[in-house]
Amino acid sequence: MWISSRFFVILLLLNLDNTCSEPFEAHLRGPGFVMEPPGRVEFSNSSGGWLDCSASGSPQPTVDWVHADGSAVTEIHGVRRVLRNGTLVLMPFAAAAYHQDVHNTIYRCIASNSVGRIVSRDVQVRAVVAQAYKVDVEVLSAARGCTAILRCVVPTFVKELVRVVSWVHEPAIYIYPSLQGDGKFHLLPTGELLIHNLQESDESQSFRCRSMHRLTRQVVVSSPTRLRINSHRGIISPSVVEHTAHVQVSQDEGAVLLCVAQGCPSPEYSWFTHNGAGPLPVLSGPRVRLLGPILAIEAVTGEDSGVYKCTAGNVGGEASAELRLTVATPIQVEISPNVLSVHMGGTAEFRCLVTSNGSPVGMQNILWYKDGRQLPSSGRVEDTLVVPRVSRENRGMYQCVVRRPEGDTFQATAELQLGDAPPVLLYSFIEQTLQPGPAVSLKCSAAGNPTPQISWTLDGFPLPSNGRFMIGQYITVHGDVISHVNISHVMVEDGGEYACIAENRAGRVQHAARLNIYGTLYSHTHGMHSKHTDAHMRKMLMA
Ligand SMILES: *[C@@H]1O[C@H](CO)[C@@H](O)[C@H](O)[C@H]1NC(C)=O
Ligand SMILES: *[C@@H]1O[C@H](CO)[C@@H](O)[C@H](O)[C@H]1NC(C)=O
Ligand SMILES: *[C@@H]1O[C@H](CO)[C@@H](O)[C@H](O)[C@H]1NC(C)=O
Repeated sequence: MWISSRFFVILLLLNLDNTCSEPFEAHLRGPGFVMEPPGRVEFSNSSGGWLDCSASGSPQPTVDWVHADGSAVTEIHGVRRVLRNGTLVLMPFAAAAYHQDVHNTIYRCIASNSVGRIVSRDVQVRAVVAQAYKVDVEVLSAARGCTAILRCVVPTFVKELVRVVSWVHEPAIYIYPSLQGDGKFHLLPTGELLIHNLQESDESQSFRCRSMHRLTRQVVVSSPTRLRINSHRGIISPSVVEHTAHVQVSQDEGAVLLCVAQGCPSPEYSWFTHNGAGPLPVLSGPRVRLLGPILAIEAVTGEDSGVYKCTAGNVGGEASAELRLTVATPIQVEISPNVLSVHMGGTAEFRCLVTSNGSPVGMQNILWYKDGRQLPSSGRVEDTLVVPRVSRENRGMYQCVVRRPEGDTFQATAELQLGDAPPVLLYSFIEQTLQPGPAVSLKCSAAGNPTPQISWTLDGFPLPSNGRFMIGQYITVHGDVISHVNISHVMVEDGGEYACIAENRAGRVQHAARLNIYGTLYSHTHGMHSKHTDAHMRKMLMA
């Protein structure tokens, strides 16, 4: 038996396709994040920072990083690396190597496989160059029997990153922040030290404050400062010297609202809420503690958000301040359904469900993405995305992205699959009558999902395997299959009824037409008998 090597290779490829493509396709799954990077990453130039991102799917997705404008994040030697496992590393750097677009910017992680592409939330990266700073103690002294307030003054350029961790009552008594204090000393959670009930013996005691940088963990201690007792013995009406104007916490965390007034005698504090009608006194309860200058609320909920007022009063008068508490409630974003299979020509509809603690959240700024690219907002009804006349190009990964005014983003992913569609012939050959000698090409093309396979027969039997027959098959970018049978030097015995059969798991379609070659016995015979004879002859030729 003689088979051309080219013909053999093609047969082999078709065979591989037949055995592998369908079970493989059934197991395809679009990417989903296993580890989505956080919304904010802060680090110091000496530590460097890293952003983890990983995704699952079938085939295993690849992970890349992009800038906010969608351009690829490149490696910069000694500055920025993308590890093989998807982690983006921003390396420790010298102050002079600070670059805004590397160290203070937005990154997004992209996971992609053959099914589609998804994009992570925005990651706001902020690197801080460690700078030397000094802290100083400021004493708001008071008269005997009253309260002195000691402040740790942090320079404004690092204020946001530095907190007071303790005070030292010289030589070696450490005082730590607490809600209540010990009756004499009270280090407020915001860093001020209150010294109650001043006595002669407190005069000339020394105090130092210790602060720590949140990112570099560097501890900076002030020089010791002496306490003095005011000789003034009259009444001083209260004035608010420190208050937390805006407290932002996440749901279920504890909130501490604080308001410190200077005055003598020591002021009494009252707290009010400003919700709706007028100021209502805040009452202590299982979650709410009134601790003088501190209002502590445990396990906050969205309902604790609002405007509060503290009032400090003594016989000399009253002072007050307004404070705002904002509770960030987490939201969950989900797309329904999260896998949708639609037939070609059908309509796909996805709904973006935004909930908080299980109940729907009102109008949100919803954006839809397809394979990592934002879709135009036309043709969309609120939270619903409709894809009419679904075609192969609409397959892939869809995302609903909710961006909150505070800047955090939340996203959910869903996959649109094309339902099975039986093959349809897009093009097929016609009957021809020829003289022996020239080359002949027969072509069929078909569409369907999964992409159909095309096979050929002559009078119901496989095509002869001789050097004059060549089968070629390829798949277009649209997923259509095109198949050719080319016969070089057509000969009398090549005449007969040719058929192309397109087949996938959803069905099968066939087209047949005759190729008549002058001077042949076969082209004039039509009965069963002659076909058997043809096949018999062919088998003898092949043998
Ligand atoms: C990737 O590798 C680095 C270093 O080997 C490791 O620190 C990091 O956690 C890994 N990331 C993930 C997503 O597994
Ligand atoms: C970070 O910046 C500080 C201040 O310029 C510098 O002293 C330190 O060496 C830098 N860290 C690295 C790793 O270069
Ligand atoms: C068969 O002929 C057609 C038309 O001439 C050509 O486009 C195609 O590439 C040929 N296929 C093979 C397998 O030679």
